[in-house]
Amino acid sequence: MSAIFTPSADKEFFTPFGPMLGYVRMPPNLVEYLNASMSEQLEDHSASLVGKVRQELLFPKPLVDAAAGALGNALIEYHIRASHRGTFGDYDHTAKRYELNIMAGWFVRQFENEYNPLHIHTGCALSCVGYLRLPEGIDDEWAEDDKDHHPTHGHLQFAHGTDSHYSVSNFMIRPRVGDFYIFPSYMFHSVYPFKTPGERRSFSMNLSVVESEA
Ligand SMILES: [Fe+2]
Repeated sequence: MSAIFTPSADKEFFTPFGPMLGYVRMPPNLVEYLNASMSEQLEDHSASLVGKVRQELLFPKPLVDAAAGALGNALIEYHIRASHRGTFGDYDHTAKRYELNIMAGWFVRQFENEYNPLHIHTGCALSCVGYLRLPEGIDDEWAEDDKDHHPTHGHLQFAHGTDSHYSVSNFMIRPRVGDFYIFPSYMFHSVYPFKTPGERRSFSMNLSVVESEA
């Protein structure tokens, strides 16, 4: 069915094109639980991922379940909002039921001088990243990096399309423990190295939101 825009106010500015991103502050007990559950005994998946980082440890089921329990509503809300936007509101989420299909979750353990090259996530519709730990003293490195016109140290960068008037092609995220971002799996992203000794720990999940008639 065609997406037809119908104004609902005397003045509107809207963004029908390009990917939508989501941000949620994670509950502190999820951050604590995931950090406490991180173990080097978990299966290391890094050989099949692009990251030039020390370890990428797969989530066992209890961790997938904990993350889904705490963040599932936000992931489903992303799906509903993006579906509303893509149809100019011609989408009745109250007539549907939603389920998460999580293909994988994993910790990313990045230490000084390591990085994650430009990549996308495959075999899923949605991806996400949550920040669990940062090296002590990285704020000093960032204060120094801020003196440069283009700070990047330890930042996540998303890129999509081509720069054009009134539409940017990329932006940076400075990680903060407890922050969680949702993005479509096809969005290119990379993480820059940092110099402060210590661990920048995050986790990601690949998933799809499956909808059915209520
Ligand atoms: Fe990634």
